[in-house]
Amino acid sequence: MRRERLSVLAAEPVGPYTLLRLERGDLDPGIPGQFFMLEAPGRLLPRPMSLCLAPAGELGFLIDAIGPGTRALCAVRPGDEIVVLGPLGNGFDLDVEKPLLVGGGIGVAPFPHLSEALGAPRALLGFRSAWHAEAAALVPNAEVVVDPVLVTDVLPSGHDVLACGPEPMLEAVRKIAPNAQLAWEAPMACGFGACYGCVVEIERQLKRLCIDGPVICDSSTRAAASTR
Ligand SMILES: Cc1cc2nc3c(=O)[nH]c(=O)nc-3n(C[C@H](O)[C@H](O)[C@H](O)COP(=O)(O)OP(=O)(O)OC[C@H]3O[C@@H](n4cnc5c(N)ncnc54)[C@H](O)[C@@H]3O)c2cc1C
Ligand code: FES
Repeated sequence: MRRERLSVLAAEPVGPYTLLRLERGDLDPGIPGQFFMLEAPGRLLPRPMSLCLAPAGELGFLIDAIGPGTRALCAVRPGDEIVVLGPLGNGFDLDVEKPLLVGGGIGVAPFPHLSEALGAPRALLGFRSAWHAEAAALVPNAEVVVDPVLVTDVLPSGHDVLACGPEPMLEAVRKIAPNAQLAWEAPMACGFGACYGCVVEIERQLKRLCIDGPVICDSSTRAAASTR
């Protein structure tokens, strides 16, 4: 884990989302599913973001502008600088035989990096509109469903599921694929275990999602991560 001030290379629209491309500096991209804390201009607390892409010399983050921090991150210009800390948390276990990436909405964010690490496996992505589904172009071998069809309506059996998306989607995926690896979300202030701002209930124990997650795989766990 390192903290560095990185230069913005570009902030490009992908459907309603923004692909923020930063110079990598000396930061390690880490394992897919790990995240970084990005200091949003003008905001006190950094925002957690999954690494989306890691081409040579770059770190890419796919951002959904839903509030002041994400809006500030999407508004940066080439040449601006952002302080970034990471990689943080537990990523996906890549030792899987028949991977299937299952994502919903901005949950697609870690999949380009994950897909590359796993050799472009099949992916099943759900979005609320065709405009949002433009982000599927970042993931090779992706099948797309758009509301009202849900990924869980068409989820095939017999795969090692790696999923990221809103909590109701993850809960539904877990019912169908109890051994799925699930990337959960919770609001985070520090990202490395110091503030207890990301505490969730797992197996009746309070855990910090930033260091015990965000990827959790255990059919017996009960992650009460907050929803948006
Ligand atoms: C490990 C991790 C990885 C993430 N990766 C990405 C990513 O790749 N791309 C992306 O766009 N977003 C990602 N997020 C979510 C992102 O961090 C939040 O959307 C962002 O911090 C919101 O900040 P804001 O100031 O824009 O909005 P805020 O005003 O802070 O929040 C807007 C609304 O969203 C809720 N909210 C904020 N953060 C979260 C959260 N983490 N979980 C649930 N509800 C929340 C708030 O309660 C509020 O209702 C990730 C979160 C985590 C924990
Ligand atoms: S975000 Fe601070 S303890 Fe998890």
